[in-house]
Amino acid sequence: MHDPVGVFDSGIGGISVLREAARLLPHESFLYYGDNANAPYGVRSADEITALTLAALRFLVSLGVKALVIACNTATATCIDTIRNEFPLPVISTEPAITPAAKLPGSGKILMLATPATVRLDRYLSLLSRMPDPKRIVNVPCPGFVERIEQGAADADAFDDILDRCLSPWHNKKIDGIVLGCTHFVFMKNAIIRYANAHFVGPTAVFDGCKATALQLERVLHAHGILAPAEGEGRTVFLTSGDASRFDPLFHKLFTQKE
Ligand code: DGL
Repeated sequence: MHDPVGVFDSGIGGISVLREAARLLPHESFLYYGDNANAPYGVRSADEITALTLAALRFLVSLGVKALVIACNTATATCIDTIRNEFPLPVISTEPAITPAAKLPGSGKILMLATPATVRLDRYLSLLSRMPDPKRIVNVPCPGFVERIEQGAADADAFDDILDRCLSPWHNKKIDGIVLGCTHFVFMKNAIIRYANAHFVGPTAVFDGCKATALQLERVLHAHGILAPAEGEGRTVFLTSGDASRFDPLFHKLFTQKE
């Protein structure tokens, strides 16, 4: 087997990026590592997030991956420069998709949903400041969402209470877009769309960065001449720092789930 691409997240959220990458690059093999034992990262200090991320990536690199995908907005916002300095491998990162969202026509707000860490970190705030109209984008820290998703919540109704907690100030307002600025939130996309339809003045477009990250992975592998040969199907292996008997079925379910 050719060397796999390592994909990392604090937990199951990065599967949303992994499945796009595997669809786009069917000949590649992937090694996914979820640090489920330590999730959520987004309520921790920057030092803690950095230490956990580096430890997880050292583990992945020790297994012989040829590139690293940081499928975690929180880790990217916290320590992407440190990661790039430490590892002599191609590194692909994930950032909240505010750039395409900012191009939406209209004058309604765009809500950027992310972990509490992402929305307060300089890296994200600097990206935001480069938008044509930064005030149109409202940062909404969403504590509690990652925990709920890590518990395996999948039903669209399972999120209404936490959505209410973070989004009720925007009820009956014109909301043109919602950015899913955490890879976990992709797994509550249907709940968010339903919620937006019920409570906001729309239409409300929903953005995530999964496809863009997969495309960037393809570009980077190509540029380094390390794309897998176009023969045979790649393999995907899932690893977790948490309870594998609990997370393995969840990884497989989300990986094969269409949306
Ligand atoms: N999935 C991660 C992200 O994209 C964060 C989850 C966490 O708080 O652990 O930000």
